[in-house]
Amino acid sequence: MHTVRHEPELVLDGTWRFQLLADPDAAPDDGAWRDIEVPGLWTRQDTWDRPHYTNVQMPFPGLPPDLPAVQPTGIYERTFQAPLKWPGRRVVLHVGAAESVLLVQLNGIDIGISKDSHLAAEFDVSGAIRAGSNELRLTVVKWSDATYIEDQDQWWHGGISRSVFLYTTGSVHIADIAAIGGLADDLRTGTLDLTVDLGFADGAEPGPGWTVEAAIPGMLEPTAAEAAGPPPPAAWPLPDVVRRHIVAGDVGVADDPAAWTAEAAIQIPPLVGRVRWDLAFPDVAPWTPETPALHDLQLIVRDPAGTVVEERTVRIGFRRVEIRGLDLLLNGERVLIRGVNRHDFDEETGRVVSLASMRADLTQMQRFGFNAVRTSHYPNDPAFLDLTDALGMLVIDEADIESHAFQSTLCDDPRYLGQWVARVSRMVLRDRNHPSVIAWSLGNESGLGANHEAAAAWVRRVDPSRPLHYEGAIRWDWTSDQQVSDLTCPMYPHLADIVEHATSGRQRHPLIMCEFSHAMGNSNGTLADYWDAIESTPGLQGGFIWEWWDHGLRQPLADGSTRWAYGGDFGDTPHDGNFCTDGLVWPDRTPKPALWEHRALAAPVGIAFERDRLTVTNRRHFVDLSWLRGTWEVTIGGQPVASGDLGSLAVPPGASATIELPGMPYNLREYADAWLTTTWSSATDVSWGPAGSEVCVLQVPVGVTDAQPEGFDVAIDLDMATIVADDGTLRHPLLATSPALALWRAPTDNDRIGGMAAAWVAAGLERLERRLVALERADGTVRVVDDVTTAAGHVIRHERRLVVAPDGGFGISERVEIPPALTDLARVGIVLEAVPGLEAVRWFGSGPHETYPDRRRGGIVAIHESTVADQTVPYIRPQENGGHADVRWLELTDPSTGEGIRLVMDTPGQVSATHHRAADLATATHHPELVPCPETIVHLDAAHRGLGTASCGPDTLPGYLVGPGLYEWSWHLRPVPAVDA
Ligand code: GAL
Repeated sequence: MHTVRHEPELVLDGTWRFQLLADPDAAPDDGAWRDIEVPGLWTRQDTWDRPHYTNVQMPFPGLPPDLPAVQPTGIYERTFQAPLKWPGRRVVLHVGAAESVLLVQLNGIDIGISKDSHLAAEFDVSGAIRAGSNELRLTVVKWSDATYIEDQDQWWHGGISRSVFLYTTGSVHIADIAAIGGLADDLRTGTLDLTVDLGFADGAEPGPGWTVEAAIPGMLEPTAAEAAGPPPPAAWPLPDVVRRHIVAGDVGVADDPAAWTAEAAIQIPPLVGRVRWDLAFPDVAPWTPETPALHDLQLIVRDPAGTVVEERTVRIGFRRVEIRGLDLLLNGERVLIRGVNRHDFDEETGRVVSLASMRADLTQMQRFGFNAVRTSHYPNDPAFLDLTDALGMLVIDEADIESHAFQSTLCDDPRYLGQWVARVSRMVLRDRNHPSVIAWSLGNESGLGANHEAAAAWVRRVDPSRPLHYEGAIRWDWTSDQQVSDLTCPMYPHLADIVEHATSGRQRHPLIMCEFSHAMGNSNGTLADYWDAIESTPGLQGGFIWEWWDHGLRQPLADGSTRWAYGGDFGDTPHDGNFCTDGLVWPDRTPKPALWEHRALAAPVGIAFERDRLTVTNRRHFVDLSWLRGTWEVTIGGQPVASGDLGSLAVPPGASATIELPGMPYNLREYADAWLTTTWSSATDVSWGPAGSEVCVLQVPVGVTDAQPEGFDVAIDLDMATIVADDGTLRHPLLATSPALALWRAPTDNDRIGGMAAAWVAAGLERLERRLVALERADGTVRVVDDVTTAAGHVIRHERRLVVAPDGGFGISERVEIPPALTDLARVGIVLEAVPGLEAVRWFGSGPHETYPDRRRGGIVAIHESTVADQTVPYIRPQENGGHADVRWLELTDPSTGEGIRLVMDTPGQVSATHHRAADLATATHHPELVPCPETIVHLDAAHRGLGTASCGPDTLPGYLVGPGLYEWSWHLRPVPAVDA
């Protein structure tokens, strides 16, 4: 493996002849050829071998290196024409990636074999290629001994996933380039550690006179050096006798300089063809994720006659990565790692991703505030790193090693030693010139063993410029020597544990979580709590959310529709269900609500409102704020009262500016629900859009913080019987059901996998039966006392007092006593159904995206408008969704007349309005199964449990739990008249 990038001279992508055998030893069947696309996985191109999803467990039984009886083996064949101009050139076949064993035959000649599903294989085919027509066969075998170290949590596929092409070089060619850009101690002087190796193929004689010339436009004038190898032994600065001893030992060579010089050349052949420079450039523009300055390093090879034989350009950047104390520093700055884990994924092609798709991932990540990506859990296409260099994204580059099912053994198994070192070293050799790569990861979830130590030792020797990352090294002890990881990079730690560690005095390395905040379904609760702790605790430096993609594969159904499939949907067994749908974006890259939460938390600017002035803080590390334009608006009760432009603010990195806002109401603090909202857009074009693209919206309260109940007229003498029936239920022409107590929600993935859902069923929370205990009508008030019994027999006393308004509205005070045995509830609230037709929804509360008590930092308190249908958040496996935190009121109206109801929470609460009942959400397995009901199901919750991340990691924090005790709250319903009325 090498870093030299070659343009394809003959692209072999396209339609190939193909057949899928069940055994690598079987002979292809002449009648069985069909067409297939390359790159392309056969598991996504209509063959009998379908996608198969497992997490930890292997897809087949046995011990390494046992293999299953059926061994899907793809035979890819194509004919290609080699141009006449190639004779005399060295011809190389490049196969970008094949899953998982690749065997190459050209014109019937066996060429070679390669393993590693995510690194390219290159074969010198000069000896086998012919001018004119050629027959190429690529045999791809799905399972091998290596499968046991490619046991990542993802779909298993088979096939060729990256491009296939031929390139040519002269027989003397650039074999490798190591161009490691750095910054000197002054952080201004750029350094370049440059080594160029020439290869002498096909009998070419390494001889004197070959030169390599390096130039960087504007920085380095063309500088040539002879690629002649090290000086001959005669020039060694050692006395003859020592030299002779070193070279020849004590044997055989007489005291004859000519003899032992000749011997030296045999025993220590000169390292021919290497050129090295240590260069320095004053006052460079450094590479940072915020200013990804790249420079073209141009390399030219000349033969002894001075003729140019090869030219290459490498894009380099000057930056310095180092660990000082408990901080990982980039160019001397402690940059917080706002990272996300990314797999190669495409809903149609599986793992074949285009350049456009990679770019769209990265720009979408930047749009939502990420500055770092971990290539979980294998090296990506090298083009991905070109993009991270150019766009400014930090990368933890991870080797293709995960032996999860056998993690305690294979890491010490000498049969796998070579593969361990090969996979790590080939990645490093390929990617070391990329400035965006800030750390090497030895892989994922593979225990800790001698094989890791061997791989780590190799990297430390070859690229000491970057730290090592490996979670397995620190899994059981964050304070150990952790020889193979320079970072403490835990996965899914409890918040309290990382804070305790960072404040214990025992921390020894920067703590950057390699995975946290598991984004499965409706999740990422407490992300804000993590970030509050990271930003306020030295030693904590961020982490990588798990993960970017929901890996739902597009699957056609019998009726012609499609769905996003997960484990088991292709008949795959054993499988791990929907555990692969755990990303921040849906399989078509649409942001899930949690992504908006991240955007708010990662905002490049911070605001505060103190002493009637706005303080703006630049939260970036390297650029001032002039790339942003801000506007501000103050609302009271959702209505705008003042606004203005913030213009351009050249606040330096890390600094703050305090700004007077002209026209601000002077008596703001007398108002409830007064909010200052600032909206920030880019002043210039950004990676994800043109100038003017929205970057973030930030809001702070500026009035009194407790919302006041809306006024409510009570009609003392109204006949209550019209609204409260003798059985205690409530009747209203726009309500399809009487408001009833609700304690349950359709389990989220976190609730289900975390065990809460089972506990709720055990407590019978999903089925409540109401028994009227007392009904009293007096003084215009109706008092209804119910005993509500759960399916498991827990009795809850529920008392409500109702008053009716002259306009037909009503107000209810609720009093609910949750018995001590019910320790953990999904919610305490009311569910009601509005009659069909009230499709328009407006609410004053957090929005516009879905928010929950422990995931609401991205919400803006305002009056939001939508439709009930659009309130559904289509989680791939249906679950609780569509909620809004801090809702003051919610209005449902008939869009054609404007008539409807307003439901007012006297204290802001968690509210949702959708066309799905919790029970229906809980039983469906895929979103398209859900049939929206015509009624609108409204939940008005006094308390709603946080989401947490318990599908993989900690549950929500205690402060977001809903437990036993007394709940008292009130709400009311007001009619909304028709617009013309
Ligand atoms: C981690 C693992 C990931 C993924 C995640 C859960 O343990 O490294 O690959 O399995 O958990 O989704």
